[in-house]
Amino acid sequence: MKLFNDLADFSVEEIDDLLTLARRLDEHPEPQALAGRVLALLFLNPSLRTMSSFQAAMIRLGGSAFVISPEMSIHGLETRPGIVMDGAAAEHIREAVPVIASYGDAIGIRAFAQRQRLEDDLADSEFQTFRSLIDKPMINMESAINHPCQALADWKTMDELGVPRQGGKFVLSWAYHPKALPLAVPSAVVHMACQRGMDVTVLRPEGFELPTPIMDKARAAAEANGGSLQESADRHEAIEGAHVVYAKEWSSTRHYGDRLGDEKLRRELVDWCIDDPWFQPAREDCRLMHCLPVRRGVAVSDRVLDGPRSVVIQEARNRMVAQMAVVYRMLRGS
Ligand code: CP
Repeated sequence: MKLFNDLADFSVEEIDDLLTLARRLDEHPEPQALAGRVLALLFLNPSLRTMSSFQAAMIRLGGSAFVISPEMSIHGLETRPGIVMDGAAAEHIREAVPVIASYGDAIGIRAFAQRQRLEDDLADSEFQTFRSLIDKPMINMESAINHPCQALADWKTMDELGVPRQGGKFVLSWAYHPKALPLAVPSAVVHMACQRGMDVTVLRPEGFELPTPIMDKARAAAEANGGSLQESADRHEAIEGAHVVYAKEWSSTRHYGDRLGDEKLRRELVDWCIDDPWFQPAREDCRLMHCLPVRRGVAVSDRVLDGPRSVVIQEARNRMVAQMAVVYRMLRGS
C-alpha cells in the first residue's frame, strides 16, 4: 500500500482484509513486525488520538515514529503557494515536507481545511500538493475533506458491536459547537457508512447540508453496496429505528468561509446538543458514536456520554488497532 487517503480507494473486500489484519495484530501481537521501520508524523494542526495512536501502533509493532508540529521549536512554516516569504515564517512546506518524509519509511500528514473556498477544500488541494512533494508511502491523518483513519476505526467499531451492514440504520447528526469545524470527519463518515451498505440519514439544520459532491459520492457508494442515503432536518423522523447516531459538529456550507454568517446561523442552534430524549424513537440498543474530542454539555450531554449508549472510547482505541493494520500493510506489505 502506497497511499492511505480515502476509504473510497479500497473495495469492501480490501477493507475487510485490513480489519481482519487489525484484529489479528490486536489478539496476537507481532512486536518485531516493523523492527527498524520509521514513520514520520507531521501535524500542522492539533491532535490527541491521531498523534498518540500512530506512535503506539508503531511501538507495538516494533517500529518507531517521530512527530513534527508547529508547537515544537521548529522554524515557522509557510503553507501558501507562491508567497514572498518576507513575514514571520522562515521555511516553506515545499522544502519541509520532503525533508521530513526523507527521514522516514512512510509519512503521515495532518493538515486541516483552510475553510476559505469550499471548492479548494473539496478538491483537497493542499493535501494533493503534499502528495506531489513526496515519494514515500503516505497516510492522510485528516485533510481538508477526509479522515480515512477515523472512518476505518468506526467501521471496525460497528463490526464489533454487531451493527448490521445492509439494513443497519445510521444517522450522522450535526451537533452544536461554538466554532465552525471542518467537513473532514462528516465527509469520511457518511461515505464509510454508505460503503458499509447501511441506510444512512444526514440529520442537519438548514444551512448545514453537506456539499453536493460529498453526498453524490456517498450515495453512489450506498447504491453499490445495498444501502441508501437521505438527508433530513426532522430529528424524530431521522432517528426512528436507528442503530447508530453519530454526532459531529461541522461548519455551515451555506456560509462557508464567512465566519460572521456561520456564527449568526449557529447561534440559534444550541439545542442541537445530543441528549437522552433524542434517542426515544431509536432502537433501544442504539449507540452514540463521536470521533472525539467532544465538548460535553455543548455537542453531547454528560448523561449520554457517560451512559451505556456511548462507544466513544472503543472508537478511539480502534484508531490504534486499525492503524496498526495500515502501517503493517504499508511498511511490510501483504
Ligand atoms: N478523532 C481524532 O482525529 O482525534 P484527534 O483530533 O485528537 O487526533
